[in-house]
Amino acid sequence: MGFLITFEGPDGSGKSTQIKRLYERLQTQGYDAYLTREPGGTAISEEIRGLLHDLNHREMAPRAEILLYSAARAQLVQQVIRPHLAAGGIVLCDRYYDSTLAYQGYGHGLDLDTLRRITEFATEGLRPDLTLLLDLDAAAGLARRQTGGVEWNRLDDYALAFHQRVRAGYLALAAAEPQRWVTFDALQDKAELAAGIQQLVLARLAQLPAAALTQPQSA
Ligand code: TMP
Repeated sequence: MGFLITFEGPDGSGKSTQIKRLYERLQTQGYDAYLTREPGGTAISEEIRGLLHDLNHREMAPRAEILLYSAARAQLVQQVIRPHLAAGGIVLCDRYYDSTLAYQGYGHGLDLDTLRRITEFATEGLRPDLTLLLDLDAAAGLARRQTGGVEWNRLDDYALAFHQRVRAGYLALAAAEPQRWVTFDALQDKAELAAGIQQLVLARLAQLPAAALTQPQSA
């Protein structure tokens, strides 16, 4: 029941702008869509986000980092995502467990199988139906964030080599599960990117059996 779409990408890939545009389009089409983000999306998870992104916490150990992301995720899945999916809704999530595999796994070098087990526990095995990767070169992404007037967080502060490993990690994850992932060039014109994403998602939704989703209300 329901349909879970996640957006992934290196910092500065423009995910948050694009996911909002998709959300607005789905609403205009009459779909029951819900937009959320990781880490965050519930009162508890937003507090954990504050801890994770605090520039004063530079000493945070990678294992503590993964457990905090997973705690925020467990809360979001149970409190928000599962109930919406169970009601036949579409959930759009700005980052999900693939961020853990890319950042903590490929970026920090934590064991991927261990991360997958922790993730499985946190989400009770809830996987996205579709994951959109907004791909761009790590240096270009960081430059965008520095000039983009957005929050500069503790993760952005890691060295460029870390962000390059994250990007390579995303590409490896996408290649390993091509039926779930679709990769877009994040540096293309924003309006064209939005149109490409919307076209893809609307086509996928149209293929679902009628019972999977609350049917669109004509606006
Ligand atoms: P964002 O809200 O700008 O996407 O920032 C979230 C930051 O948190 C980003 O640098 C990626 C990082 N992150 C992880 O390292 N692991 C995770 O599991 C998640 C969800 C995010």
